[in-house]
Amino acid sequence: MKTNVLKITNESKTELFVGKNLVGQLVASLASSLFSSLVIITDEEVKTLYGNRIKEKLSSHILTHVITVPSGEAAKNIQVAIDALGEMQKKGVDRKGAILAIGGGAVSDAAGFIASVYKRGIPWIIYPTTLLSQVDAAIGGKTAVNLDDIKNIVGTFSQPISVYIDMDTLRSLPDREFSSGMAEVVKYAVSLDKTLIPMLTKDVKNNQQKLEEVIFRCVQLKCRIVAKDEKETLGLRQLLNFGHTLGHAIESVAGLGKYSHGEAISIGMLFATKLSTHMGLATPADVKTVQELLLQYNLPVDLSLSHEKLIETMGKDKKNVDGSIKWVLINGLGNAIGDQFVQDSIIKAVLKEM
Ligand SMILES: NC(=O)c1ccc[n+]([C@@H]2O[C@H](COP(=O)([O-])OP(=O)(O)OC[C@H]3O[C@@H](n4cnc5c(N)ncnc54)[C@H](O)[C@@H]3O)[C@@H](O)[C@H]2O)c1
Ligand SMILES: [Zn+2]
Repeated sequence: MKTNVLKITNESKTELFVGKNLVGQLVASLASSLFSSLVIITDEEVKTLYGNRIKEKLSSHILTHVITVPSGEAAKNIQVAIDALGEMQKKGVDRKGAILAIGGGAVSDAAGFIASVYKRGIPWIIYPTTLLSQVDAAIGGKTAVNLDDIKNIVGTFSQPISVYIDMDTLRSLPDREFSSGMAEVVKYAVSLDKTLIPMLTKDVKNNQQKLEEVIFRCVQLKCRIVAKDEKETLGLRQLLNFGHTLGHAIESVAGLGKYSHGEAISIGMLFATKLSTHMGLATPADVKTVQELLLQYNLPVDLSLSHEKLIETMGKDKKNVDGSIKWVLINGLGNAIGDQFVQDSIIKAVLKEM
């Protein structure tokens, strides 16, 4: 496969490289950069798989430090960010330093946050290593950490200068993490581009050619939206949150990390599709299609958490307006619509159907 280069036409003109075997290119670019030092932020597992190897290659070219954060959602604890900022200060990282995030979405959300606040912001680069981060989290410059089990409540918009989407890293990804990434892929298909649906067959994990095309199309879809509505002010970027209102509440109520992000939004997407049906926007056949897609990747579709707690948590969502939840629904498959208000009685009734 040849390496594809996409650019987001934002202020920082993020460059995204999509291909295989991209470590050489990443190292060459950093080696010729003018950064005074580089801080690799990664987690324990990814450090062993990729971080150490990349550090070794970089060390002869640029002063490189490594900061290891806990794996999974625990990386997004605000205390972890505070500790990392202190460590960078102690190591003498100055404003000409940069951060390289190596890992999944939890690592890049946290690393991006750290980069965006350290000395009022230093450049950062991402080498995303999960399917979820390659198609979604690494693109668009939303950074975040969690507070008291509320997801993403502290964060910034900060575009990375470049993102190296290296599909070789997916070979070591456990099945559960692959499925979690497929949830975001299903999101793109169901809410933005139904022509992707026929490509989402069960064999996509082992069919390299298909997987490459699917990833590339998802990256393109996200880049297009981010280029038009970088700061989520025009109503377009919110469409990427299909399934996320309930999904984020599920993550919080269950205890952060219990459900993977993809698992939580899987339930959230089925719920949002059912809501759409109740609002006369989608059909029972659409619900069936979404459910079958999710089950194909062993994603959960049942809900066994307290409805009261979920409703209370959704009420605290940062996207709410005047205390009302703003929903992203679908007006038929592939057609997301935002800013939808739904009566509480309908929400409660559909929760009971789950
Ligand atoms: N910023 C955004 O726009 C955005 C978008 C979507 C999701 N997110 C966030 O992303 C996070 C989820 O990201 P994620 O699913 O990538 O999770 P993650 O970063 O927690 O990674 C999941 C697990 O996979 C391991 N791992 C990572 N790469 C691996 C590899 N190549 N081989 C083997 N193991 C590997 C990690 O060590 C971790 O245990 C959530 O916090 C979510 O809120 C952010
Ligand atoms: Zn998501």
